[in-house]
Amino acid sequence: SRTTVGIVGGGPAGLMLSHLLHRDGIDSVVIDIRTREEIEHTHRAGILEAGSVDLLVDQGVSDRVHRDGYRHEGIELRFGGRGHRIDFERLVGEAVWLYPQTDVFIDLAGARERDGGTVHFGVTEPVVEGVTTPTPTLRFTDAQGEQHELACDYVVGSDGSRSMCRGLVPADVARHHFREYPFAWFGIMTEAPMSAPELIYAHSPQGFALISQRTETLQRMYFQCDPQDDPGNWTDDRVWDQLTRRTAGDGFELRQGPITEKVVLRFRSFVCEPMRHGNLFLAGDAAHTVPPTGAKGLNLALMDVKVLAEVLRRAVRGGEHSALDEYSPRALERVWKAQHFSYWMSSMLHTLPGEFHAFDAARQVGELTSLVQSQAGSRYLAEGYTGWPSQS
Ligand code: DHB
Repeated sequence: SRTTVGIVGGGPAGLMLSHLLHRDGIDSVVIDIRTREEIEHTHRAGILEAGSVDLLVDQGVSDRVHRDGYRHEGIELRFGGRGHRIDFERLVGEAVWLYPQTDVFIDLAGARERDGGTVHFGVTEPVVEGVTTPTPTLRFTDAQGEQHELACDYVVGSDGSRSMCRGLVPADVARHHFREYPFAWFGIMTEAPMSAPELIYAHSPQGFALISQRTETLQRMYFQCDPQDDPGNWTDDRVWDQLTRRTAGDGFELRQGPITEKVVLRFRSFVCEPMRHGNLFLAGDAAHTVPPTGAKGLNLALMDVKVLAEVLRRAVRGGEHSALDEYSPRALERVWKAQHFSYWMSSMLHTLPGEFHAFDAARQVGELTSLVQSQAGSRYLAEGYTGWPSQS
């Protein structure tokens, strides 16, 4: 059988692309080696830019984000034991939404099901061939054990940071940009009430901490740790001790509760350039990874597929094949802006191990102080955090 666009990877990027194509009358098939339940239960980031929310709501995926999400008009930067609010609404007239990636996935999977989309979760042995031919093929075995061979016009690799599709771009074509960091995040989920109305990004002599949220009764928190740390070595008492110290001051009180999850999240920056090879297009984490500070990863993935859906529509419906050439440069412009933003937020807020620690820690406080005292500095942060206007 055949389809216009074969999509490898049924996370938010792949499902959103399939949804947008469907709205333009273009058929696609999505496959994923993970089961739907597995994806639904993998906790990821929780902040959506205004543009991402617009995409979900305006394109008819779901308006649940407006009902179940929380609109945040700012964040707090904490350093030197004091909180400083960055007021997005006042600075740039924008806000972000606290709405977990797992819910974005649930909404997208529900919309594809509702609209009769073809999505195969839990497939095995996916193989993509002939991406530089006019008819790339996608082969896989579905969850019921039935084998499929699909002739496609285009293949999209939205198959995450360990992408199989990325490997189809020859080494002499792809440039891989890569950076690692000497720190990681220890993440917890806790059954506690909210400690503050908005997110708190804290710089402290003990290292970074982030107080985030999920619901009135469930909270997400992170603190900087060693990349080699094992979650099993951290008792609840040790976790609370670190989170409390790193957010102390100003009369701030961290609300505690039972910890229901502990994970160590690695920190890396990665870009694969270009994001296209022949009739293969890479989107989301398959093409790029950002460190988590600033929550850009999911938003970037959604903006990739917004551009990709537009150029595919022009190519497929309008016969304008040159539109496809726009994808990589247009997507990469935003990718590199987000790479810089995530790198900058990370390096401003995390303490560095090593001999220049004292200088760097004091310099970071200088940077944070100049940022919160400057309208221009605060606005730069607000623009990046709420998301730059899309070019499409
Ligand atoms: C969350 C994650 C982030 O990386 C961030 O910058 C803000 C919030 C979260 O998981 O809630």
